Amino acid sequence: MPVITCIQDLKDLHRKRTPKMFYDYCESGSYTEQTFRENTSDFADIRLRQKVAVDMSGRTTESTMLGRKVAMPLGLCPVGMTGMQRADGEIKAARAAAKFGVPYTLSTMSICSIEDVHAASPEPFWFQLYVMTDEDFVDNLLERAKKANCSALVVTLDLQILGQRHKDLKNGLSAPPKLTLPNIVNMMTKVQWGLEMLGTPRRTFGNIVGHAKSVTDTSSLSTWTTEQFDPRLDWAKIARIRDNWGGKLILKGINDPDDARMAADFGADAIIVSNHGGRQLDGALPTIRMLPKILEAVGGERGKRSTEVYIDSGIRQGQDILKALALGADAAMIGRAYIHGLGAMGEAGVSKALQILRAELDTSMALCGERDVNRLRRENLLVPKGFFDSYVQP
Ligand code: GLV
Repeated sequence: MPVITCIQDLKDLHRKRTPKMFYDYCESGSYTEQTFRENTSDFADIRLRQKVAVDMSGRTTESTMLGRKVAMPLGLCPVGMTGMQRADGEIKAARAAAKFGVPYTLSTMSICSIEDVHAASPEPFWFQLYVMTDEDFVDNLLERAKKANCSALVVTLDLQILGQRHKDLKNGLSAPPKLTLPNIVNMMTKVQWGLEMLGTPRRTFGNIVGHAKSVTDTSSLSTWTTEQFDPRLDWAKIARIRDNWGGKLILKGINDPDDARMAADFGADAIIVSNHGGRQLDGALPTIRMLPKILEAVGGERGKRSTEVYIDSGIRQGQDILKALALGADAAMIGRAYIHGLGAMGEAGVSKALQILRAELDTSMALCGERDVNRLRRENLLVPKGFFDSYVQP
């Protein structure tokens, strides 16, 4: 067993141990993948300011998200088909997050159903909703999420149509995989994955199959998106969902100050600044570059805002979390970083990913001369001149 010291190690194992179509699904962006690449390179362009000879004892990474205590200000994003990266993947990820003390978000497009995860998770989780044209189906999902005691609803706003990811089309992505010769040959090299998959009944979209009407191909995310997602989603429809839900509401997929202001005026409990990990609008700016203007639009200070601001897209190490917090975000969210852990080592891998990120955050914070994650601020950073103003409207 190799020594795991960073998320990249988990990623290498994930690639080795998981069928190509699912690894590729995780590790790709849309079209030219410019936004996908720059999400991480923009984080790297921001530097940390070293500070010495300050007491670094008694450090803490604890904080709160939506009024609940968290072990660090980090949440697990919804990721479609997590249960194809590893058998019962959503259950494993939810358990690891609950044990660690951070929130887990279950995707509408999950393999394990809301009920499966509810039965297995020791803590309430968040449920992510894709808004569909079939309002009965949406209402039914909300009822199921309420019954499962989900503590927040995350409504995704940036995927009413799917940005094309070339690899998914070339690989014929589906859940379960179609038994074509190349798929069979590839899956035969993933022995542990295959054995675990044979041992679970959960191999297709658990929230959908058996619940939705008139679906032509229940195994395909792209067919489902084209046929079912509501292209007319607007603020009035979001209001209908908010009223039906009645609980904490998080709006995900905001990457522009005007939209952020709308979301705050709308009364969202939190927004997730996101470009969907570079998987939707290729050419959109990285979220970390948009963050300061979005925070300005939402207003208020970290820990005291009525609309909390979380950020995803590009976070692969604890130093990235530190940068997001120092700029003023209330928390960061990860997708690929924990999926690599899951694909590598199941539940233990998700726990490992969280431990790695927290250790990196904690050590870097100490070397910046800070002891409390809630006190990180812009003075902890150095950015290239004009970094946040380098793109303007023509
Ligand atoms: C779905 O959320 C996807 O990005 O594939």
